[in-house]
Amino acid sequence: MKALITGVTGFAGSHLADYCLERGGVDVYGMVRWRSRTENIEHLEGKIKLVECDLRDATSTRDVIDEIRPDYIFHLAAQSFVPTSWRAPTESLVTNVIGQLNVFEAARKIKLDCRIQIACSSEEYGIVQESEMPIKEENPLRPLSPYGVSKVGQDLLGYQYHMSYHMHIIRTRGFNHTGPRRPPVFVASDFAKQIADIEKGRREPVIYVGNLEASRDFTDVRDMVRAYFLSLDKGTSGEVYNICAEKNWKIRRVLDMLLEMSDAKIEVKQDPSRLRPSDVPRLLGDCSKFRKDTGWKPEIPFETTLADILDYWRQR
Ligand code: GDD
Repeated sequence: MKALITGVTGFAGSHLADYCLERGGVDVYGMVRWRSRTENIEHLEGKIKLVECDLRDATSTRDVIDEIRPDYIFHLAAQSFVPTSWRAPTESLVTNVIGQLNVFEAARKIKLDCRIQIACSSEEYGIVQESEMPIKEENPLRPLSPYGVSKVGQDLLGYQYHMSYHMHIIRTRGFNHTGPRRPPVFVASDFAKQIADIEKGRREPVIYVGNLEASRDFTDVRDMVRAYFLSLDKGTSGEVYNICAEKNWKIRRVLDMLLEMSDAKIEVKQDPSRLRPSDVPRLLGDCSKFRKDTGWKPEIPFETTLADILDYWRQR
């Protein structure tokens, strides 16, 4: 069985490659752009096959997919940082929506019989009323960022290609996920890296934060990629699934938990540049549909995830 991972050098992509290899019985192919940083997959050298491709280039996307002819495609490549989508909205929309369109068109034109998972996002829900929590898949989508809109675009394109061409596409709306290798722009990894730097005396003992009042439903990335795999193994084509731990954590609490794991005396300061034009205030998902279809449940407690992230940065 051949699995192709777009975005294999990224955070979730590299963990998914690990999972496929641990599971066995899967030849893993990963798409990389020529200037991608490959540190997340250095340990996989010789174990997975890398193919060079920029998804914004339709011709090369089609050629590469035709050459591999994968059974499963995990489409994880994306511009995934919400604040960047305000600074670079065109880039975010083109990378996310057109990049995915090129994958779909490639599979359609070469008549590839494969199953495709697309990484959609809880950011699509945006503003959610308290009475709508926990959020089910049929909740209205009210995105609050260009990133959220790009993910709605990917999501609906997945629906449309399934309906129009009967392609086996499964949309996973992943809620926040974190863990080792998470780039230090995302909240828990950002805080953990600042703490590790302070412990090493590499910066003054002040941690800079953004909006601590927001809350998110966090899953460990290793549980998340297992869910991605299961979505293609056991999920129903054309369906959309929330994937989340069904627990809500205030960002202030995430900060406190990380600070409690350190002996350093650290002052907390808000950095106005970390505040967003509009921030999704609260996300709490309902994952019963995915659980019912696949039997998945998260296994790694959030406390362990946070300790692992802090360890990761301490070792670096
Ligand atoms: N990054 C960051 N840095 N976020 C902060 C900070 C900070 O210093 N302080 C507070 N926050 C708040 C943000 O305002 C947001 O409310 C929350 O922490 C989480 O921020 P991120 O980790 O940047 O993630 P996100 O929720 O915006 O988006 C992530 O989750 C989505 C799924 O819901 C990303 O991984 C997306 O790619 C993903 O789709």
